[in-house]
Amino acid sequence: MPLITITRAQPAEAAALRQIAIAAKSYWGYPDDLIETWAATPIITAAAIERDVVFVARSETTPIGWGRLLVEQTPAILEDLWVTPAWIGCGVGKLLLRYGIAICRKRGIAQIELDADPNALGFYRRMGGVVIGERISEWNRPVPRVRIEVRQN
Ligand SMILES: CC(C)(COP(=O)(O)OP(=O)(O)OC[C@H]1O[C@@H](n2cnc3c(N)ncnc32)[C@H](O)[C@@H]1OP(=O)(O)O)[C@@H](O)C(=O)NCCC(=O)NCCS
Repeated sequence: MPLITITRAQPAEAAALRQIAIAAKSYWGYPDDLIETWAATPIITAAAIERDVVFVARSETTPIGWGRLLVEQTPAILEDLWVTPAWIGCGVGKLLLRYGIAICRKRGIAQIELDADPNALGFYRRMGGVVIGERISEWNRPVPRVRIEVRQN
């Protein structure tokens, strides 16, 4: 795999990260109208990048994936995790999630939870996540609630 670096996002990157999220969500073949409605929401803003823990994977200088953690609560919430379609299946999601887990470890946070896209559940399970329940998503469908334990060693 080419060199991938992960660093905190800059507020000026909001538009680029938004495009990655829309492309990644479209990867699962959802109907256009659902994607368009969701794409009309802010998804990620400069203010959110300043407020939350937002981290970006880059190939050279090009952003190819990103994640967002809400760490002001326990458990921390993984609010976003997106990999640009050309890079899906190349290990970028794993690098991003491990980066997020390391951030939680440094802050003494013991657990991360998220509402998983059902298509991504296998990824979270592979990364050690367990399903602890079900939530109704913004698309009014049940999605698995996943918990990841953060080992503190
Ligand atoms: C889900 C997503 C973030 C995973 O990132 P990725 O870079 O494709 O995943 P990786 O290549 O790092 O995979 C890590 C491991 O999980 C496995 N895996 C990845 N996606 C999987 C899936 N959908 N189902 C089952 N296993 C999966 C890989 O085979 C790999 O296993 P290995 O460690 O044995 O090699 C990415 O596919 C994506 O952005 N998808 C579209 C948007 C989305 O659904 N985001 C999540 C919203 S909750």
